Amino acid sequence: GNTTAPKTQATAPADKKITLGFAQVGAESGWRTANTKSIQDSAKEAGFDLKFSDAQQKQENQIKAIRTYIQQKVDVISFSPVVESGWDTVLKEAKDAGIPVILTDRSVDSKDTSLYATFIGSDFVEEGKRAGKWVADKYKDAKEDVNIVELQGTTGSAPANDRKAGFAETIKGNAHLKIIASQTGDFTRAKGKEVMQAFLKANKKIDVLYAHNDDMALGAIQAIEAAGLKPGKDIVIVSVDGVKDGFVAASEGKINFIVECNPLLGPQLMQAVRDVVAGKQIPKRIVTEEGVFTSEDAKKALPNRQY
Ligand code: AHR
Repeated sequence: GNTTAPKTQATAPADKKITLGFAQVGAESGWRTANTKSIQDSAKEAGFDLKFSDAQQKQENQIKAIRTYIQQKVDVISFSPVVESGWDTVLKEAKDAGIPVILTDRSVDSKDTSLYATFIGSDFVEEGKRAGKWVADKYKDAKEDVNIVELQGTTGSAPANDRKAGFAETIKGNAHLKIIASQTGDFTRAKGKEVMQAFLKANKKIDVLYAHNDDMALGAIQAIEAAGLKPGKDIVIVSVDGVKDGFVAASEGKINFIVECNPLLGPQLMQAVRDVVAGKQIPKRIVTEEGVFTSEDAKKALPNRQY
């Protein structure tokens, strides 16, 4: 007899395992590693079949991955767009195939918001403002110029665009606060170190470093120390994320202020996937909650930091 024949002919749609295709940015930072783990762990917990790809910080790789998910007829596609623009075509392809798309972490600049179901992630402009506000407060009585260098995230990415804009807006009221150099460090330690070395070579007096993430700040710290200067004292450092290594540097006084960006988006994403598959209405924008940490705060919070 035929022993491999299934007992039931058809599976009810409600019992069907949900397939989620996720196109990740890459593995550029500690934040990203924590984000990937959160997504993988919570997909497993939710009982979803997760198809996961790493685009190595290249948009073309993400587009390819999304097209593969469309061909495979996954139930939901999710991705964290490496850059903000250039997504309309592939998003339209997903829409035409009837596959809902959920954006996480980073958004797109598409005018047609019907191309995605929701965007779950941080308010990056607000993060930039929090960093800028701390600097503006610290130097509110400055009588001389305060020279600031900026390490930007990946060129064209939402967090780089928005963190730059939010910071610039909050410091512009004080003419002494001057951004004397600003360049991308691609959100990586290696690039952060390299660009900081160049900044130090080209500029005699640097008072503040604003890094769009902890990894670039950590790379820059190596360059600052190699130049015989004390990070956190000779050069005040402000960064974004709040990953473990950033917290360690902050608790040692090497980073003065960290604006938190929460990478643990997995549980919210899986809930949204469930809701979208069930045909429920979900909010178009889901903002993650986060805080800020001084060196003192970091020292206290470090023992309980999860990532
Ligand atoms: O999109 C979030 C940013 O991407 C994080 O701040 C950075 O560390 C990561 O690479």
